[in-house]
Amino acid sequence: MMRHLISAADLTRDDAVLILDTAEEMARVADRPIKKLPALRGRTVCNLFFEDSTRTRISFEAAEKRLSADVINFAAKGSSVSKGESLKDTAQTLEAMGVDAVVIRHGASGAPYRLATSGWIDAPVINAGDGTHQHPTQALLDAFTMRRRLIGPDAGLGQGLDGKRITLVGDVLHSRVARSNVDLLHTLGAEVTLVAPPTLIPVGVENWPCEVSYDLDSTLPKSDAVMMLRVQRERMKAAFFPTEREYSRRYGLDGDRMARMPGHAVVMHPGPMVRGMEITAEVADSERCTVVEQVANGVSIRMAVLYLLLGGNEPAVTHPAPATTPATKRSAPASASRIEEK
Ligand code: NCD
Repeated sequence: MMRHLISAADLTRDDAVLILDTAEEMARVADRPIKKLPALRGRTVCNLFFEDSTRTRISFEAAEKRLSADVINFAAKGSSVSKGESLKDTAQTLEAMGVDAVVIRHGASGAPYRLATSGWIDAPVINAGDGTHQHPTQALLDAFTMRRRLIGPDAGLGQGLDGKRITLVGDVLHSRVARSNVDLLHTLGAEVTLVAPPTLIPVGVENWPCEVSYDLDSTLPKSDAVMMLRVQRERMKAAFFPTEREYSRRYGLDGDRMARMPGHAVVMHPGPMVRGMEITAEVADSERCTVVEQVANGVSIRMAVLYLLLGGNEPAVTHPAPATTPATKRSAPASASRIEEK
């Protein structure tokens, strides 16, 4: 395993599958009456959030607490950053306090990389979203959700997403979720198609490992999962489409459009959703939409990443593939208890 998690593009297929498999173990902890493992007892993790967040921040905090870490939450608002303190000074303060890992979300693309490579801090750095660049734990939780839904929690162990057709729809230009997903899904063997108005497709996309289409209706019947992306108005400095109504009409997902998807296909969204814009309430609340599941899976993925970066010298997953062990489910507590022993 690598020392930091900065970009989904840094993950090898083996790394990614190990994280997904470890997250399956962690998900089983969430089914227990006491949802806690002592794996990171005595370790301090700092959540450094320079940008707004609901899901990601709470999810990291829940993951850290479930692994028994001590948690320090730092929000830029109300800290000395609003007095002009630099990232370097903030990092050196954390280093002086002896933090063991830093989770960072920052509006500037590259801030987590800078933190990891600057020498200001010795701890592993986990990117929780930087500018329009990367959001690797989101891509991992999305891949985990796809693997569970399209292959199955047990059947998926040890596997990637080979041959699965994944469509990402919307504001690709401003989306770190899209970038991370394209990288990771490609590594895991999926076929990715981006659908957006031409103005919301980044320059240089021809070098990305994916297809591009401007026609949502023709792509839906060929998709195993369709991920809707929010239009990120806070990052827009120009008009990228005529009106919201026009955008929704061509690129929004409503009930009629969802009916064009194959019966087994799922609708995904990283959140926050703007109902009525990229997704209607009917679709968001339907059985086929995994948005709430993605949030729950996010905790398992972040537990796995923290465990592997901080605690685990050896894989937490020890059981063989489910095909050879019909009793995989029953073997889970034994391997989870191996995590507890660490
Ligand atoms: C995304 C983000 O912040 O990049 N949300 C998330 O982390 N769950 C996507 C978005 O803000 O639209």
